Amino acid sequence: MKTQVGIVGAGPSGLLLAQMLHLAGIDSVILESRPRSYIENRQRAGVLEHGVVRTLADCGVGARLAREGMVHEGIDIRFGETRHRLDVKALSGGQCVTVYPQHEIVKDLVAARLQTDRPLWFEARVTSLLDLETSRPRIRFEQDGETRELACDFVAGCDGFHGISRPAIPGGRIDSYGRDYPFAWLGILAEAAPASHEVIYAHHKRGFALQSMRSPTVSRLYLQCPVDDDVEQWSDDRIWSELHARFATHDGFRLNEGRIVQKSLTPMRSFVAAPMRHGRLMLAGDAAHIVPPTGAKGLNSAVGDVRVMAAALEAYYRHGDGDLLERYSEIALRRVWKTQRFAASLCTLLHRFHDEPRFHMRMQLAELEQIVEDPRAAELFARNYTGLPFDV
Ligand code: FAD
Ligand code: PHB
Repeated sequence: MKTQVGIVGAGPSGLLLAQMLHLAGIDSVILESRPRSYIENRQRAGVLEHGVVRTLADCGVGARLAREGMVHEGIDIRFGETRHRLDVKALSGGQCVTVYPQHEIVKDLVAARLQTDRPLWFEARVTSLLDLETSRPRIRFEQDGETRELACDFVAGCDGFHGISRPAIPGGRIDSYGRDYPFAWLGILAEAAPASHEVIYAHHKRGFALQSMRSPTVSRLYLQCPVDDDVEQWSDDRIWSELHARFATHDGFRLNEGRIVQKSLTPMRSFVAAPMRHGRLMLAGDAAHIVPPTGAKGLNSAVGDVRVMAAALEAYYRHGDGDLLERYSEIALRRVWKTQRFAASLCTLLHRFHDEPRFHMRMQLAELEQIVEDPRAAELFARNYTGLPFDV
């Protein structure tokens, strides 16, 4: 079996790359370890930058997003039990964000892929990457109880943080940077209409809380909690009482309650692996970098990588020009690092750090006041939140 680009992982990175390559007439095979139903139902990201929405539309997968996506022109930042609205559209020169669940993007991309008749194999688990430093790398995988191999020109490592692509790079050829935060997010999905039609970021002395949504009748809510907590410790009553406390405002705001249909715990981590290319292997998305989700940047950052990788492969196949491929890591990392900075600083700004309670909290409140009072601080925030320009 052989192809031009072997893609490991059918998350947003791998599926979008495959679609871009298809539009450029480049052949690929996607290998995904999970079943289709699993990846199409996995609850993850929700907020899309304006440039990501445009990218999906340009790739022919934006029709349902345009119909069902919820366009947001502002966000609500709460601290000191007071709400402040940031008009991110006006502050960023016209850029909005769109709330559209990641698993819906995955469904749209899977449907587009299946229409192309190019291969997308589920329950095909990649076990090793071979000959990455030659011009004919190979992907070894297991499918239907058999070990198989796919020969390719390039391997795209789009297999997320726990995948096998990044560890396939020999030690000493890749560096990693990052930190683990001493807290996690308890995330719930509730059958309750969102009480605010915009996303709420709440700084509170009991810890951070976030209200987002998945539809006009389903809320997505997150609560900062200790990193070693167990979902079992969080009864529905305890969750609602904590959420009410953290979102409370002097003007009497109240969340809507509803049946909790899902609970999960996510640790917070900042992580970058560099370079993002080794021989004929290129990494994209969570395989190369992770952000704490406070700034809603993970999926958006993955799209930034994929745009560069697809353009580099197109230049190579169409014009025999390998310059962009050589510079893939350098170009992708420029945007990755700016996004990391924003995500890490927002994480530090909004969460309660138990080892540094009093002084740190005063610093947080001073910075939050500056963001809502000083238009230049607000503009910088809004440009980062709605999405920095893509390099390619
Ligand atoms: P993944 O989505 O992890 O996909 C990797 C794929 O590779 C998976 O399908 C996996 O099964 C497959 N795979 C792994 N190993 C193998 C193997 N050996 N063989 C074959 N296949 C393999 N981002 C945002 O932009 N906005 C948000 O609002 C946001 N909110 C988030 C909230 C939460 C609670 C979480 C957890 C994340 C959030 N993110 C957000 C981050 C976002 O979900 C990720 O950044 C995004 O999924 C990255 O996509 P990816 O394709 O790179 O990786
Ligand atoms: C979400 O909708 O899941 C979401 C929204 C905003 C964030 C993170 C996650 O900052």
